[in-house]
Amino acid sequence: MSRFDLSGKSALVTGGAQGLGEGFAFALAEAGADVVISDIQDDLGKQTANRLAKVGQRTGFVHHDVTVEDDWRNAVATTIDLLGGFDVLVNNAGIEITGLLTAFDPDDWRRMFDINVVGMGLGVKHAFAAMSPSGPAGSGGVVINVSSVAATIAHPALAGYSASKSAVDRLTRVAARESGIFGYGVRVNCIYPGLVPTEMGTRLAGDIVTVGLAETVELAVRGVVEQTPSGRLGEVADMASAVVFLASDAAQFINGAGIPVDGGMGM
Ligand SMILES: NC(=O)c1ccc[n+]([C@@H]2O[C@H](COP(=O)([O-])OP(=O)(O)OC[C@H]3O[C@@H](n4cnc5c(N)ncnc54)[C@H](O)[C@@H]3O)[C@@H](O)[C@H]2O)c1
Repeated sequence: MSRFDLSGKSALVTGGAQGLGEGFAFALAEAGADVVISDIQDDLGKQTANRLAKVGQRTGFVHHDVTVEDDWRNAVATTIDLLGGFDVLVNNAGIEITGLLTAFDPDDWRRMFDINVVGMGLGVKHAFAAMSPSGPAGSGGVVINVSSVAATIAHPALAGYSASKSAVDRLTRVAARESGIFGYGVRVNCIYPGLVPTEMGTRLAGDIVTVGLAETVELAVRGVVEQTPSGRLGEVADMASAVVFLASDAAQFINGAGIPVDGGMGM
């Protein structure tokens, strides 16, 4: 059996309707896990879950705004109900709003922090409650928070997003400490993806042009590639491989860590 085999594991992926979250859901299922995806996009989320079902694992979709605590209660209960357990949370849902500091918009920053930081904090809280020995799932587990290369570099026009993803980094470390101290049996790690041309990544490249940091989208992308020793943008599969690894027993002694998956851009 592969050390990356996730047979018998039950996972919840937030923001799983599209993009990286969709890729994480498929990769986890292909490694043998049963996977519920959650999102605010109900129609797309259901379509993605229907396609995911063809992998052959148990799956489902639940409406879930990660900023709403009742939605977390419902998403976790639905996961346990549909899959019979809850072992892996991929705290993936996030947004990015580009802007130079001279155009600082408090509402944009509050929205990013609400989803990227409060949303992930609620995820940790409800994963601990469900996975710890006294919880309804009760057999420990793994939380994987999706941070960003933006937490490890100083890219102009990304101050708010970088700040929110840096908060995810520290949230991850503190969560791992608390899990250890209180015996929840949950490993907590994060990944720092590099730029991936999902809907978010593609829009970001355009926004870099809009704020005057590159003349064309092609030049904006080339700028990222030139800063990346691996010489290309990231792909969804690159990020998904790291998530499967962290979810698996191959990573059983990796805890409170952040893994760059950025081709070296953030070193
Ligand atoms: N694409 C990149 O280049 C890149 C790089 C580094 C980190 N990330 C991070 O990866 C994660 C996924 O990004 P992506 O590129 O797939 O973005 P995306 O915009 O393609 O997908 C994000 C998903 O999150 C969902 N979502 C948004 N707000 C939500 C909320 N309040 N509650 C629940 N779901 C919500 C959206 O509906 C969407 O399905 C994000 O946390 C992002 O910050 C992305």
